Amino acid sequence: MMRGRTIYLYELAWILPSVAIPAAMLVALVVTAFGAGIHVPGVAGRVDPTKLAETAPFNEPRVVEVGPGRYEVHLVAGIWVFSPNEIHVPAGSTVTFIATSRDVIHGLLLHDANVNLMLLPGRVARATTQFNKPGEHLFVCHEYCGIAHHTMFGKVIVEPRQH
Ligand code: CUA
Repeated sequence: MMRGRTIYLYELAWILPSVAIPAAMLVALVVTAFGAGIHVPGVAGRVDPTKLAETAPFNEPRVVEVGPGRYEVHLVAGIWVFSPNEIHVPAGSTVTFIATSRDVIHGLLLHDANVNLMLLPGRVARATTQFNKPGEHLFVCHEYCGIAHHTMFGKVIVEPRQH
């Protein structure tokens, strides 16, 4: 039966991809999560947003050298400023952002370095990235946080390595 067979093949042409595509996506998910170690940023801790002034490391927002070529940025977001908002590190640095918000929900998007965090009052967010080449990288707040949301940004300045 030519007609019946044609319909069957036509159905098969839809059924196979509809099974194969989700299966391939699942495989990609498993490989990136367990093979490449790519995860959605999780909650790295909790902090009382009303007591940031007394709570380390947020009582002193700054860039800290924690080892050879390794830095931590202790960052506090508040309306409508990042503190610190200018971060200097030498090229070749591994930088961990440890960040929170003092008031409302903010975001931290550092597109060039693939950092994308939500900064919620009470929660500590953490992300580690690498800056290999000298240059300037803009970071912005990407959660609407009020009238001056668009003015909330900062820069990572990667300096040539000193010898
Ligand atoms: Cu902070 Cu938008």
